[in-house]
Amino acid sequence: MAKTYEFVDHTYDVVVIGAGGAGLRATLGMAEQGLRTACITKVFPTRSHTVAAQGGIAASLTNMTPDCWEWHMYDTVKGSDWLGDTDAMEYLAREAPKAVYELEHYGVPFSRTEEGKIYQRPFGGHMQNYGEGPPVQRTCAAADRTGHAILHTLYGQSLRHNAEFYIEYFALDLIMSDDGVCQGVIAWNLDDGTMHRFAAKMVVLATGGYGRAYFSATSAHTCTGDGGGMVARAGLPLQDMEFVQFHPTGIYGSGCLITEGARGEGGYLVNSEGERFMERYAPSAKDLASRDVVSRCMTMEIRENRGVGKKGDHIFLHLDHLDPALLAERLPGISESARIFAGVDVTKDPIPVLPTVHYNMGGVPTNYWGEVLNADGKNPDRIQEGLMAVGEAGCASVHGANRLGSNSLIDLVVFGRAAAIKAGEVVDPKEATPAPSEASCEKIMDRFDTLRNASGSIPTAKLRDKMQHAMQEDAAVFRTQESLEAGCQRLSAIWGEMKDLKVSDRSLIWNSDLVETLELENLMANAITTVYGAEARKESRGAHAREDYKDGPFSGRDDENWRKHTLAWVNEAGDVKLDYRPVVTDPLTTFEEGGIDPKKIAPKARVY
Ligand code: FUM
Repeated sequence: MAKTYEFVDHTYDVVVIGAGGAGLRATLGMAEQGLRTACITKVFPTRSHTVAAQGGIAASLTNMTPDCWEWHMYDTVKGSDWLGDTDAMEYLAREAPKAVYELEHYGVPFSRTEEGKIYQRPFGGHMQNYGEGPPVQRTCAAADRTGHAILHTLYGQSLRHNAEFYIEYFALDLIMSDDGVCQGVIAWNLDDGTMHRFAAKMVVLATGGYGRAYFSATSAHTCTGDGGGMVARAGLPLQDMEFVQFHPTGIYGSGCLITEGARGEGGYLVNSEGERFMERYAPSAKDLASRDVVSRCMTMEIRENRGVGKKGDHIFLHLDHLDPALLAERLPGISESARIFAGVDVTKDPIPVLPTVHYNMGGVPTNYWGEVLNADGKNPDRIQEGLMAVGEAGCASVHGANRLGSNSLIDLVVFGRAAAIKAGEVVDPKEATPAPSEASCEKIMDRFDTLRNASGSIPTAKLRDKMQHAMQEDAAVFRTQESLEAGCQRLSAIWGEMKDLKVSDRSLIWNSDLVETLELENLMANAITTVYGAEARKESRGAHAREDYKDGPFSGRDDENWRKHTLAWVNEAGDVKLDYRPVVTDPLTTFEEGGIDPKKIAPKARVY
């Protein structure tokens, strides 16, 4: 080892990495059961990216329209384009109402109906009657600041249950024993430069997505796929990374999110001819079709010269026909964002919008309890001891090839809660915590020290920019064999260039140069597995829309050969290895036991 770093040692039953909705729900659930729980986070908990979640959280409460968990499950199955795991999707839809009422009781200030019930709005892809329609009001909202409300409540409740927070600590890597058990994590305290070694019986990755692998994203700059990076370096696979969601309404230019709730409240999209074009593409759901569908339609309108603006390169979202009082009550946040980031008064003018990277369906493979799956060639569902993943960092896989809007917040709390329930079963607080492997700790600090002293010729920001442009251009809304091959070549070349990185600041206190370099390594592990997985998948499914595969009854979806999850490993040299895992097609409960009618969720064409 180049330099010896002293450790401050900590021992916990559970260490959660990340304090967004999933991390906090897991932390709270662990602490409530009396497990000694630490939560490590690189930003202050209430600044985690969940704070930006606007429109709401899906659960079949039936407060505003008829609904049931079976309709929610059906919509999720269809939204996933039949790539989601059926057991996980059933678990989500069934547990959603319970999880939302729990949030209400914890203190989340939901908007209310006249009768005082939780207010629910329509959202894309959520319908009544097994997709037949009309749209269902399933998305529970706290105005358009739902994530903000949830985050503050969960943080307060976690403190109440004595969870311990390590704030502005950057997790470097997982400590792995010689026989492959996760034993904890090493984290760097950004504020005073000290190194902390956390020994734990269970580590929970709740580090969010990797939107910042792209040039334009609704994601915060902190969304750098840190969990995916750590998992890849530990030699474990990532799953379904090729499925990257574009949200239809990022503000043109800044990428800032305009919630789908805006269309749920009656907003609509128009092209340069003033046409509400979604009526043509999705006659039933119109502007509330699933978001991969809407993003593709917008892109087609622009390509066919019906985009708006001087360059004809975006689309207008109209809210100006809606009652200003309704906008002030239900959409105050996006009214403010439109004013600040687009200079638009939403009561008078349309908002310029463009499909913008928003969410990663792929991530660390888990079962629906959040336990990480580490395929070993013989058993694709082998459970990785000592490690869980929840939220956008994980892949349960409940969203399959495309996530429905407002299914993310519910995923965070349902699976954060599930991980806590499972940890309560498998973690014994009375057992001693094994001492972390010295060899693993040494390896982690070697990597850290090498990056800290990197003295090549390419500044981190320059290489990151190169990666972001390659992803934006070659792994976009529409893909071809040619673009994806180019993407693989570009990403592999960028991986090679990482050896030549230049870090100028060698200090250990608030060294943002080094933090961004560590984040770039994490982003690259996610980005390279995304393009290689996408190049290999010879079909169109959900958010993976290939122009060279669009024919046939399912518009390019090939269930016979491709209804399977991609697993991707990347080694230190940047070589990507791919394998596949079967989709779970069995529900949790059979029809006879009260489960969904299997005929209802059998694969078919996905039409809105
Ligand atoms: O449009 C939105 O409010 C985003 C919600 C989501 O991604 O679930």
